[in-house]
Order: sequence, then C-alpha cells, then structure tokens
Amino acid sequence: MPAFTAQAPAKIILFGEHAVVYGRPAIAVPVMALQARAIVRAEPRAPHGQVRLIAPAIRLEALLEELGADHPLRRVVELTAQELGAAYLPACQIQIQSTIPVASGLGSGAAVSVAIIRALAAYLGKSLPDTTVSAIAYEVEKIHHGTPSGVDNTVITLRKAVFFMRGQAIQPLRIGRPFTLLIADSGIPSPTAATVGDVRRAWEQNPQDYEALFDQIADIVVQARSLIEKGVPHFLGDLMNRNQELLRALNVSSPQLDHLINLALQAGALGAKLSGGGRGGNVIALVSEGDAAAVARSLKEGGAREVILTTVE
Ligand code: MEV
Repeated sequence: MPAFTAQAPAKIILFGEHAVVYGRPAIAVPVMALQARAIVRAEPRAPHGQVRLIAPAIRLEALLEELGADHPLRRVVELTAQELGAAYLPACQIQIQSTIPVASGLGSGAAVSVAIIRALAAYLGKSLPDTTVSAIAYEVEKIHHGTPSGVDNTVITLRKAVFFMRGQAIQPLRIGRPFTLLIADSGIPSPTAATVGDVRRAWEQNPQDYEALFDQIADIVVQARSLIEKGVPHFLGDLMNRNQELLRALNVSSPQLDHLINLALQAGALGAKLSGGGRGGNVIALVSEGDAAAVARSLKEGGAREVILTTVE
C-alpha cells in the first residue's frame, strides 16, 4: 500500500515573541534538524470515511470520531478534508512521528498540523498553496492557545526565515551572512497557552506598561532585522540580551531559563534568550564557531536535556 508522507520543521523565534501577539514584529526561523512527519496509508478494508490516528509520542491511537470535536488532530483533518472538497476521506490511517519536543516553544503543534495537511492533500492527489496550508494550521493553533499571532504556522509552512507582523504580507528575511545558534532544552514543558494567557491578563490590568514593553521589543526586532540583512550577525548578541531582559519584565522567564542563559554567556555566547512562550522550553544562544562546543558543554553540565546546533542561513 503506498504511503503519502509529508514533513514540517520546528521553529525558533529569534526576536519578538509575545509582543508579536499584540501586533509587533517578530523574527522566526525554521529548525530543519527537528521534524514532524505525517504518513497517510489507505485502509481499503475499513469502512469509507474511517480515519485512524496513530501518534506514539503522545500515546494516542484512536478513530477520528473518538476524539473531541476540538481536538487539534481531529480539527486539522476535518478542516483539510473540507478544504479539499472531500465530504468523506477514503478510509486511511494517519501516523504521526515527530522529533520536536512537545510544549517546548519549538512549534511542535503547528509542525504536526502542516505535515498532516500536506500528507492528506497528497493522499487525495492534490496539493494546497502555502497560504491555505498556513491558514488551516492557524485555525488549529487557536485551539492550542486562543490568540496565536500566526508566526509559528507561517515560518513552519514556508520553511524560511521570516520577518512577521500580524495582518501584514509575509516578508521573507534575507540572511546576509550565516550564523550559528545553540538551542538548549530546559526539559521543562511549558504550554504556550499558559504564558500567552498570563501576559494577556497582565496587559489587561496594566495596558500602558505592557504596551511600552512591546514597543521596546519591536525596536529590537527592527534593529535585528537590519543586522541580519546587512550580514553582521555577531552584533545580534546584545539585542538578544536586551530582548531577554524585556521578556523577564513580561514575567515569562524562569530561574531555570535564566540559569541556562547565564551559563551560556559565561561560557562565551555572544547573547542568549528564551525562545517561544517561555517559563520552560528552550533557550537560544548565539555562538561563534570556535566557542560552540564549550558553550554546549556548559549548557549540558548545567542541566539542559538536549543541545542542538543550528545554522541560520
Ligand atoms: C510562540 O511560539 C510565540 C508567542 O509569541 C505566541 C504567538 O506568537 O502566537 C509566545
């Protein structure tokens, strides 16, 4: 039986998380070393329309209709079938494999959605434009956390660095000169919904101060874009540190993340910050090639569960 497979990468936010939910820009890049994969196989003996979902990483094996109506996996399958004009899908199983840690700020939910959308389209002999793929994934992101900016589904669909601003045309980011980052997993799961919700409540109580913090983050994002495009990424370190201070002010960092960030800086990183929703999940550190091994060692000794080296190019 042929299998229809599609993959989607993880992502990291280099600058601008949280503020991006409030209309400020953010810079995000794909992480090709981590991928979600969806494999669709026909099940000709099963009743027409039956869809079996198998996702070992979350210990799930279920028929579509056994999942709640707003389960993200059910929603993504139903929205995709609707978009493809298929009232019922020919019976199939959808297997999901992913090397992207869940609830770690790396976009695992959006990557799983994008992989499923593309694999299902292939199964039906069709392909969907990126804008449609991203729009479906965005609808599913709303289940993960009510007010997504759309940055995750965008960068994961496009597989390219983006300068993203809610409601504006997507601007691919030209990388003037490649640079190296370490991504260190604190091992502490932190659903984005929780931190995004907390920031929203704090913003509602104190809109002036929060708007001012978002504006300062936006300034950093704009400066970072210019440095990246001009090909002088080594100056980004200072901006990462300043962005991290503002994320601390938003109350989305944590002692464990600050600990890893300090270790990275002490070991020679040019800058470091949390990436994504915060509180747990991942920190990113900008490193020169010569210092990468020492910084990675220090992060591991300091408790990082996993350290990945990625080149932004
Ligand atoms: C999550 O990767 C980034 C946040 O800014 C939320 C969002 O943009 O939807 C925290």
